[in-house]
Amino acid sequence: MKNILIYCRAGFEKDALAEITDIAAEHGFYGYGVPKENQGFVVYNTNVDDGAESLIQQLSFNHLIFARQIIAVNDVIEFEKGGRVQALLEAARELPLAQDIWLETADTNEAKALSGLIKKIEKPLKTGWKKAGLLRTKAVGVRHHVFFMEGDQAYLGVSYAACRSEFPLGIRRLRFPAKGPSRSTLKLEEALLQFVPEERRQRDLYEGMNAVDLGACPGGWTYQFVVRGIHTYAVDNGPMQKELMDTGLVSHMTEDGFKFEPPVRVDWMVCDMVERPILVAELMAKWLCEGWTERAIFNLKLPMKKRYQEVVQCLELIASQLKQHGLRYEMQYKHLYHDREEITVCVMVK
Ligand SMILES: C[S@@+](CC[C@H](N)C(=O)[O-])C[C@H]1O[C@@H](n2cnc3c(N)ncnc32)[C@H](O)[C@@H]1O
Repeated sequence: MKNILIYCRAGFEKDALAEITDIAAEHGFYGYGVPKENQGFVVYNTNVDDGAESLIQQLSFNHLIFARQIIAVNDVIEFEKGGRVQALLEAARELPLAQDIWLETADTNEAKALSGLIKKIEKPLKTGWKKAGLLRTKAVGVRHHVFFMEGDQAYLGVSYAACRSEFPLGIRRLRFPAKGPSRSTLKLEEALLQFVPEERRQRDLYEGMNAVDLGACPGGWTYQFVVRGIHTYAVDNGPMQKELMDTGLVSHMTEDGFKFEPPVRVDWMVCDMVERPILVAELMAKWLCEGWTERAIFNLKLPMKKRYQEVVQCLELIASQLKQHGLRYEMQYKHLYHDREEITVCVMVK
């Protein structure tokens, strides 16, 4: 397969394409793509047979900023009337065997209108796939995706467990907690699930840790620490939710988040202050280099046009400062589903 299909938030197509173009070039691929505004996906042509599988298998999902999902695909399949399953089955002969098959669309209102079609076609398609022997339990970590763009147009492709989202449409849906102080709480919840998966929690996220939350009010992010039994210094001039304060796990510090210094070293620092991304990046680097924390999660707010370039500049600044201080670290980043005009970064010093 030559093409890489990337799902992204509608409106971020240019950024997703700029990013994959840069990454592909780093891996020796000089392809192209044409972003279409607000379609919720982009296609990058690697210009090399098998280039798409080869490239996506070298990538790491949490090191892709704007991709909600990443799939190797062939060219668009155009259907004859009534011949969808047959056309897809024929195209599937070129794919490696898979464990399962998902039917998806972009995350846009126009694409959602195709959900009726997907419901109708899902059963015959899955039956056809089984009968053709395309699904095998031993094809561990390989998934087929049919991505409908119109009733008569779809991409068919494959994703690999090592670099993909495990959620349909690449969307991790979360329920807003009844006592959550603000909708923003879902952003940190998603970030913690994405960047600190189950197998790392014993080491990186457990009861009894302590944290700082810069720009904390009314307390949505602090809430995520409190429900995990983590004491939090909530830094903000505004008011915190009373119920959260009543837990006894929060110390409210009415100070400027850019000047605040923690009274003790903390296990986590998070920051949701609305500020220029480069200033936030400088502040994050300072906290990590001073050793005030070993782990940070923060938003980079991106109201500007060249969002990808802005993020790269911020990530490079942090990386260069940590390197100058001789620190080994892991940096993960993602435009999460609950993010809007912002992305979320997680840095952990090793
Ligand atoms: C987007 S809100 C944070 C929402 C919060 N994360 C939540 O989940 O409820 C941004 C907050 O940053 C605070 N803020 C902005 N600049 C700040 C600064 N220099 N120092 C401390 N807080 C600041 C604002 O007062 C505001 O409450």
